[in-house]
Amino acid sequence: MTGPCTQQEPHHGGLTEFGSLVVRWCADRTRKQADLAAAAGLSPSYLSKLIRGRREVTDPVITALEQIMHTGGALADAAARSNDDVPARPLQMRRRSAPAQLPATVATLHGRDHELASLASWGPAPGLRLIIDGPLGTGKTTLAVYHARRLTPAYRAGTLFADLRGHHPHGPADPGDVLAELLNSLGLPVPKSFSDRVQAWRSATWSTRLLLVLDDARSTEQITPLLPAGQGCAVLITSRYRLSTLLVGTGTQTLTLTPLRRTHSLALLTTRLGTTRINAEPDIANHIASLCGDLPQALALAAERLSTHPDVPLEKLLSEYEDRWELTEITDQASGSMRIALDAFYNTLPPDHQRAWRLIGGIGRRTTTEQLTALTGWAPCHTRSVLEGLILAHLITRHNNLYEMNNLLASWGAHTLAHDRHLDDHHTLGSTKP
Ligand SMILES: Nc1ncnc2c1ncn2[C@@H]1O[C@H](COP(=O)(O)OP(=O)(O)OP(=O)(O)O)[C@@H](O)[C@H]1O
Ligand SMILES: [Mg+2]
Repeated sequence: MTGPCTQQEPHHGGLTEFGSLVVRWCADRTRKQADLAAAAGLSPSYLSKLIRGRREVTDPVITALEQIMHTGGALADAAARSNDDVPARPLQMRRRSAPAQLPATVATLHGRDHELASLASWGPAPGLRLIIDGPLGTGKTTLAVYHARRLTPAYRAGTLFADLRGHHPHGPADPGDVLAELLNSLGLPVPKSFSDRVQAWRSATWSTRLLLVLDDARSTEQITPLLPAGQGCAVLITSRYRLSTLLVGTGTQTLTLTPLRRTHSLALLTTRLGTTRINAEPDIANHIASLCGDLPQALALAAERLSTHPDVPLEKLLSEYEDRWELTEITDQASGSMRIALDAFYNTLPPDHQRAWRLIGGIGRRTTTEQLTALTGWAPCHTRSVLEGLILAHLITRHNNLYEMNNLLASWGAHTLAHDRHLDDHHTLGSTKP
């Protein structure tokens, strides 16, 4: 039977600074070293080797012990100093590798030099928190992953990536489930209750250097419990919504993406379809970029579809497709389509926001508060509140009194209006063409 650590661990040297801290902690609480080891998911003999400096203390071990000991970072600091004296371990004892969860990304990133420069200017810094927001399909995830790859060397405990599924048809990811995935990825036990998971996550991130990407956040409420606690961690968040930085943290930096400039849209098409093809039909390529609203996601899908017929002129292909939705639809459906993405987004919005989207699309792509009030019969203050909601969802932008929608998004509004015969607004506006 193992006794309390004070009895089990004689003070006759051989303990590292980390070891002394653990032993003292056990002694102060008359806890057995074996119990501490079990609670942290370690074997007693392994913990014994750690406190004697025979094994390097890894980040998962520190986070597991910190969850129990709550030393406020002292344990991590002591471990860092103690690890310097640990002799090289045999190959089979290498530390568990740090998580590296970033997904693959594009080989060539078009038109984001300015944004990359801004992101680089903000970090890595203590407690870095970055939000990349912007309209659907502008390349938020792509940019976040691209930048995160550059940051990874500064975060030795690894990189975690969580898909928050902000626009999933079955609803956004539950923060409790995401916390379970995150703790699991660090090899830590997952407590049953939500509040225990939050505490476990805070302890785990208190004194380590992790990079966390929270992709496609639905709301500030969804991400608040997922924010790392310590200043050593960085978090990159992407969202189609403008998130309140008040809740995410006052030092948070926000970068808002817009559609690509036309030259960069054409460069993206050229990368995917080849210089010869684009140079042979520059006006058609320009028209394709316009149909795609210069949104990288639409451009990538259109290029994928057009590349299925490499020997057919772009103009001929365009004349065969019924509309821009068919152009941006991959026939095997595996890669998705703008129709599916827009439909899913539209369905997450409140009814009045959907109506405003349809109407703005139906009357072109620009409107004023007065015009939308006249069309809907809403009180002007309600119209303003709906327009502000559309701004927060990056569906429109405001220039003085004019509200403006991206070409492709407006086209989706018009398409929805024209195809739903039961909607009153279809009759209000007469025969609106998609
Ligand atoms: N700057 C870019 N250069 C080249 N390709 C890009 C760029 N940005 C995005 N893409 C392409 O567009 C696709 C969609 O981009 P991404 O998923 O990053 O958009 P998003 O803004 O995160 O979309 P969502 O609003 O659905 O989350 C990517 O898979 C990639 O192929
Ligand atoms: Mg995304």
